[in-house]
Amino acid sequence: MTAPRPTRGAAALPSLAALADRGAPIVMITAYDYPGGRIAEQGGADVVLVGDSAANTVLGYATTREISVDELLVLTRAVRRAVRDIPVVGDLPFGSYESSDEVAVATAKRFVDEAGCDAVKLEGAGEMVSRVRAIIAAGIPVVGHVGLLPQSVTSPDGYRARGRDVAQALGIVADAEALADAGCAAIVVEAVPSEVGALITERVPVPVIGIGAGSATDGQVLVYHDLLGYGESRPAKFVRRYAAAHELFVDAVRRWGADVRARTFPSREEGYGIAPDVLDEVRSKL
Ligand code: KIV
Repeated sequence: MTAPRPTRGAAALPSLAALADRGAPIVMITAYDYPGGRIAEQGGADVVLVGDSAANTVLGYATTREISVDELLVLTRAVRRAVRDIPVVGDLPFGSYESSDEVAVATAKRFVDEAGCDAVKLEGAGEMVSRVRAIIAAGIPVVGHVGLLPQSVTSPDGYRARGRDVAQALGIVADAEALADAGCAAIVVEAVPSEVGALITERVPVPVIGIGAGSATDGQVLVYHDLLGYGESRPAKFVRRYAAAHELFVDAVRRWGADVRARTFPSREEGYGIAPDVLDEVRSKL
């Protein structure tokens, strides 16, 4: 295993707070491999999340509940090798932190020690607030996640917006406040009405990064594959596509296949040469 780059540590995430304080929207994007990490950084993102959405986008699982710590660590290490100057946040997979503070700290440490993460993200509040406090006490910054919690979704129709009634909206605001109080460096808010995203941003003193939470949050995060149109899944309502990578790549493979079948690939220039006398000698010895 190649050692991860040295972590940038707790110093990296306060830069997000500085951006939020200046009113500059924070740009967070997911990445799951080396080229994705390079693209995220060269594209000017402020922070990269190696999301457990890799379960769907990269590994083809039906839900994010199926990805393991070991699977996500492989991807996170690849991203860490690629991303040099901005923080990398590792997502703690379902089942890897919920049962106790000790388990949560042990998993978070793996993401720092084995993959060079600057911070970890976990889903939910309630009992998870204690996990957040324990991980922070161990010296690892934590990003919270409220609203729609994909790790709690067990069927495709479960990906609906949250916080559209009074009780749910109040619950999500309270969750975000509890996570901020516990010391989260930032909070992701997923799939809530824009007004609820705005309320949370008003009330919470740490950067709020929205995904389907309207335009008032301190920043936005999108899944790399959604933004690039890389994959066949139907994008959620809150996704804006900036490319059609899937179609582009299918077309490239088709055109290459056609060239192979027409024997126009490879050309002479795409092959290696050999000196005529060397070739003559090879032939004579066969
Ligand atoms: O796993 C992920 O990609 C996420 C984002 C949706 C925030 O948690």
